[in-house]
Amino acid sequence: MTDISKIRISLAPMQGFSDVIYRSAISKIGGIDSFYAPYIKVENESIKPKSLADIAPEANDGIVVVPQVMANKATDILQVADAVKAMGYSELNWNLGCPFPMVAKRRLGAGLLPYTEVIESILTEVEAQSDVALSVKMRLGYLSADEIWPVLDVLNNHRIKEIIVHPRIGKQMYNGEADRSILPTIIEKSVHPVAFNGDIRTAEQARSLITENPTISHLMIGRGLLCNPFLASQIKGTEPNKFIKRNQLMNFVGTIAERQLDRLQGAGHFLQKMTTYWEYWSQMFADAHRALKTVKKCHTIEEYTDKVQDMVLGWELVI
Ligand SMILES: Cc1cc2nc3c(=O)[nH]c(=O)nc-3n(C[C@H](O)[C@H](O)[C@H](O)COP(=O)(O)O)c2cc1C
Repeated sequence: MTDISKIRISLAPMQGFSDVIYRSAISKIGGIDSFYAPYIKVENESIKPKSLADIAPEANDGIVVVPQVMANKATDILQVADAVKAMGYSELNWNLGCPFPMVAKRRLGAGLLPYTEVIESILTEVEAQSDVALSVKMRLGYLSADEIWPVLDVLNNHRIKEIIVHPRIGKQMYNGEADRSILPTIIEKSVHPVAFNGDIRTAEQARSLITENPTISHLMIGRGLLCNPFLASQIKGTEPNKFIKRNQLMNFVGTIAERQLDRLQGAGHFLQKMTTYWEYWSQMFADAHRALKTVKKCHTIEEYTDKVQDMVLGWELVI
């Protein structure tokens, strides 16, 4: 039987969330082995300095970061691979999962999955010109889950470090459930290691997934960790006691607020950003609705700080 405490747990790449500030703060809670940065794009032949600053090794001290690229041209992947290799990274993750229509209609993210010949030629070129260890994060398809089979055939013929599967199709966006039932067939057909991503919200769900698929050794978790920063430690059985938990939570939300305050101009921007976090963080409380409402009603930084302290130290938690 697989020892769940040995499973690699990673924070999923999430634009607006899995940036250096969030990665650093959540890493202090423990249980997460690696952290995927939000995707990097090449626009007008260049990479935004902000994207590279986010993964600068000195800003990510002590944590394992995996950069991600969103591209549909080998030259773009090679450009990002060179940039991240120059910073000391050996792995680059290729985003073949983003479902948003604006992205997908440009044959990027999940929108590239129906075009196996393009994927094939990109991989051939990248492989010939770079020794970067490319991993792939993908959905089952864009329009249909059958699209995955020809894509797997292509991936099987190339040097891929790992395939991280989020078993939804692009058109589904985040509707319905991640289809775990397809996982054993994907594992059987793939010559590469397969990791799982999608809808893991509780330690019990992680355990049952690993029991059903004992060859899985890597779970990538996104929204589950946004709603419950202790989820990885709960899965591994290293969760702290209630007292330590409240303290860690206070440090977590406090550090993120402090660092965002340094970065953002003015209370308005700050409160707006905090509200996007609290859309998820509110789920930690028995009264999630009231928690989110409390944050939304704050008009000043001081009010926000006081209200959040009351909530984190005093309100009933469900995590
Ligand atoms: C706000 C948000 C931003 C995301 N940004 C990215 C991204 O930059 N790259 C990527 O591959 N996936 C991105 N995703 C998808 C997640 O990495 C993950 O595949 C998805 O949320 C399903 O996993 P989960 O159910 O554990 O959240 C994003 C998801 C969310 C909710």
